[in-house]
Amino acid sequence: MEPVKVGLLGLGTVGGGTVNVLTRNAAEIARRAGRGIRITHAAAREFNAESINGLDQIEITDDAFQVVNNPEIEIVIELIGGYSPALELVLKAIENGKHVVTANKALIAMHGNEIFAAAQANGVTVAFEAGVAGGIPIIKAIREGLAANQIEWVAGIINGTGNFILSEMRDKGRDFDDVLAEAQALGYAEADPTFDVEGIDAAHKLTILSSIAFGIPLQFDKTYTEGITRIERQDVVFAEELGYRIKHLGIAHKTAKGIEMRVHPTLIPERRLIANVDGVMNAVLVKGDAVGPTLYYGAGAGAEPTASAVVADVVDVVRALTTDPENRVPHLAFQPNELSDLQI
Ligand code: HSE
Repeated sequence: MEPVKVGLLGLGTVGGGTVNVLTRNAAEIARRAGRGIRITHAAAREFNAESINGLDQIEITDDAFQVVNNPEIEIVIELIGGYSPALELVLKAIENGKHVVTANKALIAMHGNEIFAAAQANGVTVAFEAGVAGGIPIIKAIREGLAANQIEWVAGIINGTGNFILSEMRDKGRDFDDVLAEAQALGYAEADPTFDVEGIDAAHKLTILSSIAFGIPLQFDKTYTEGITRIERQDVVFAEELGYRIKHLGIAHKTAKGIEMRVHPTLIPERRLIANVDGVMNAVLVKGDAVGPTLYYGAGAGAEPTASAVVADVVDVVRALTTDPENRVPHLAFQPNELSDLQI
């Protein structure tokens, strides 16, 4: 069988990582997907060709619409980030009958309801595992592994940049701005790092997690959002003296009145596992009524950890297409029959 042809939008940190992982692990990935996967076309304005293996096999253009309009392409991977033109490109790809895999949490949190409606109308899948907690398969864990449970709450460290800053301030006494600059150089931070340090990125991710966990529509504007910019080194030191760590958490909680969603710095006793999650690592706790508390840990940002989740979504789409093209289960944030009557 011919490999599935994939179009890639964006050859930045995660785009480059995705090409590298797909090139390096092509045989294993094809075995798991049941079919080869080839990125045949990519759209990018600038990229670091030396850090990406396999670019010679890819036709590169600076016009992303050329990729989404290419009739040969079955799956589009959107790694441009931001709202526009990502939204227009994703909607065009869906209209053209292509499946979409994205790491763009801002796009899904803000425009996911519209995107999923379009995907449903066109019978295609939109997958976004890479948008939440980097390489941790948290969407799959909640949707699939915990499918038997009523989820009671979700809480976690879901911004790698923020956790890296707080960890370095505590362990090495470094300045906030200095660590943030390093996070940017390492490709952890958002294009606009305000999203990381003001809690907006974590709020995007919590919006998505809440939708999956509680079956509610995406409602970013209902999330209480507070970042880490007002935390000083002294706060970290005082917390330590009292036996606590300061961690920036996203928390979604089912209450009698509805779902409470909040993102803010939190004092956590240092004996707790989550208090010891450092650097760019993320950790998400999910409490289900049947399973009890569960914990998921892994790299929350970076080229290959995020690419790991992107490629896993592509494998899922290809596997479904290959085995049962008529009855595949789209990875939408919610389906009409999944919607609960819970309010935020
Ligand atoms: N800027 C994000 C973070 C990237 O630091 O967590 C991964 O979503």
